[in-house]
Formats: sequence, C-alpha cells, structure tokens
Amino acid sequence: MKIGILTSGGDSPGMNNAIAAIVKAGIANGIEVYGIYNGYKGMVEGKIKKLELSDILGIVDKGGTILRTARLPEFKEVAVRQKAIEQLKAFGIEAVVVIGGDGSYMGAMKLSEMGINCIGLPGTIDNDIACTDYTIGFDTCQNTILDAIKYLKDTAASHCRCIICECMGNKCGDLTLFCGIGTDADFILTPDHPVSFDNVVEGVRAKFEKDPDTYSIILLSEKYVNAEELKDRINNEVGCPTRICVLGHIQRGGSPTSFDRILSSRMGVKAVELLLEGKGGRCIGIKNNKIVDFDIYEALAMQRITDPDTARLADIL
Ligand code: ADP
Ligand code: F6P
Repeated sequence: MKIGILTSGGDSPGMNNAIAAIVKAGIANGIEVYGIYNGYKGMVEGKIKKLELSDILGIVDKGGTILRTARLPEFKEVAVRQKAIEQLKAFGIEAVVVIGGDGSYMGAMKLSEMGINCIGLPGTIDNDIACTDYTIGFDTCQNTILDAIKYLKDTAASHCRCIICECMGNKCGDLTLFCGIGTDADFILTPDHPVSFDNVVEGVRAKFEKDPDTYSIILLSEKYVNAEELKDRINNEVGCPTRICVLGHIQRGGSPTSFDRILSSRMGVKAVELLLEGKGGRCIGIKNNKIVDFDIYEALAMQRITDPDTARLADIL
C-alpha cells in the first residue's frame, strides 16, 4: 500500500508529530509513505517524495510543518482535483492523510468522492473543528499567548495602561476565551462571549477610578470587533492611555507542547489504522480523551460551539 500525507491551510505546532507518527506506523506496517509538499498545490504539481525514517529525524521538537503548507483556492475546481489525482496515480498513491482545518477537510471530502481514500486530521491552532474537543496546535498556541500576555502585563503595569490584545482563531473564540481566563483578563470579547463596548468602557473606568495605579488587559478575538474603535473610546471616555497589540503569526510558531505531541501522535497512528482497514472519507478527533473518527460529511455538517461551562467562567472570574 502507498499513502500520501499533506499539511494544508495555516501551519500548527504538532503537525510534524502527526507526520512522524504516520511515517513510523506506516513503515512498521509495510506501507510506503509519501510526503506531498505545499498542500494541495504540491499535489497538483506532483511535488511528492517518498519519506524514510531519516526524513523524520528530530522533527517532533519542531513547530511548523516539514511538508510545508499552502492555500490553493483553485482546488475547489473539479478539473484541478482531477489533475491532482493523476499525479497521485503516477506515484501509485491510493490514499492520503490530510492534516489541516475545515477548508482542507472540504478538499479531502471531495477527493474521497473522486475515489482517493482520505483521512482528515485536525491541524489548526483555531480549535474550530466541531468533531473534536481539541485540534492539533491549540494547546501550544495557548501557551504562546499566555507568555505574550505575561510580557504585556509588565509594560501595562509600568505605565498604568490599558492594553487590548487581539488573538487569532479565525471565527472561533476559543484561543481568546481560554487565554483570557488563564491570564485573568479584565474583559474577554469573542463571538461566543459578547460584551458591549459600553460595558468594557465602564469596567475600565471603574477600575482606574478605584486605583489610578492599576492596569487593564482586554482580550479580543480577531475578525470580531474593531479594536481601534474600542481603543479610541477608552482613551477618550476614560482618559486611560490605551494600546493595541495584535499578536499575529507569532501565535502559530514554537515547539509543540507535550499535549499536542501526544494528541497528534495518537491521531497519526489512528489514521494509519483506518487506512489499513480500507477506510476513507473519515476524519479523526478526540472526545473525552478517546480518539474517535467520523464520516467526513457528517463532521463538516456538525455545528461548532464553545463549551458553555468554559464560556461561563469568563463572567464568574
Ligand atoms: P484550513 O484548512 O486551515 O481551514 P483553508 O480554509 O485556507 O484552511 O483551506 C485550505 C485549502 O483547502 C484551500 O486553500 C483549498 O486548497 C482547500 N479547500 C478549501 N475549501 C475547499 C473546497 N470547498 N473544496 C475543495 N478544496 C477546498
Ligand atoms: O487558521 C489559522 C490562522 O492562523 C487563523 O487563526 C488566522 O485567521 C489565519 O490562519 C491567518 O492566515 P494567514 O497565515 O494566511 O495570514
């Protein structure tokens, strides 16, 4: 059996651990494992190379993805996918493990419909995939954000300032919510935990009125509300000097945490097991600490909600 692996969409720490697990489990079971470089773009271009154990040496400690990643909007076109399938056939590759977010899962679903058995692994910092409690990279990213906010607090406290920190997550507020709770932020604004600007302004005013030597940290989800608008309101209505920090792509890097290493290794091995059983069109998740798999159509139709008990903490703490 010959299988391919690709990483697609935004990179996330732990992708390399999934790759290593698939290569090791594959080779141990007599499977030839091929790396498809630069996501679906490399699949279309035939950027494909057989992976040996030597290729995965030391990669478990590294963030990013050794297979590199890319976005190829044209993969939505059937003719482009047909070209990709021809490339796979030229290498004798019958099945592909796709590590990425829900966009990448759409590509995997469509390839499965066209006869290539695909298994999806949730590789994204965003934690925005409904069929899994956690995605690969979410934990590492949280730790990166926690560190960054620790630094922001030093400077906010020194200047008695308010700092608005914008976190990634695409349309999902989990990174902002979890890190807001973990850093004891004054306000957490996410799609699942909305707070009006009026309430934020009043809260910051009350805090500085009580103690002018204090500081305030506010966490916002990207693509949700306008940080500049909130900054101007706090500056003008409270008179407290306010700054915005967009954490940006630093959130995607770094050596994976232990949690992400184990998660991605368990998922990688499960992918190989499913392929050995002849299964495709599946995607893998973790639910209640058990590795599970779902039909990829059903998974994509599931509604993603932030755990309400965790969201409630943002009001209590
Ligand atoms: P993520 O996988 O992190 O959600 P994207 O949404 O950017 O990232 O998707 C990654 C890639 O998956 C896209 O660049 C494209 O190649 C492929 N893809 C996304 N949506 C579709 C779709 N509807 N059909 C086929 N391929 C898709
Ligand atoms: O999906 C991962 C992610 O980092 C999102 O959190 C963010 O919105 C997006 O990718 C950024 O994409 P790019 O790397 O193309 O700027």
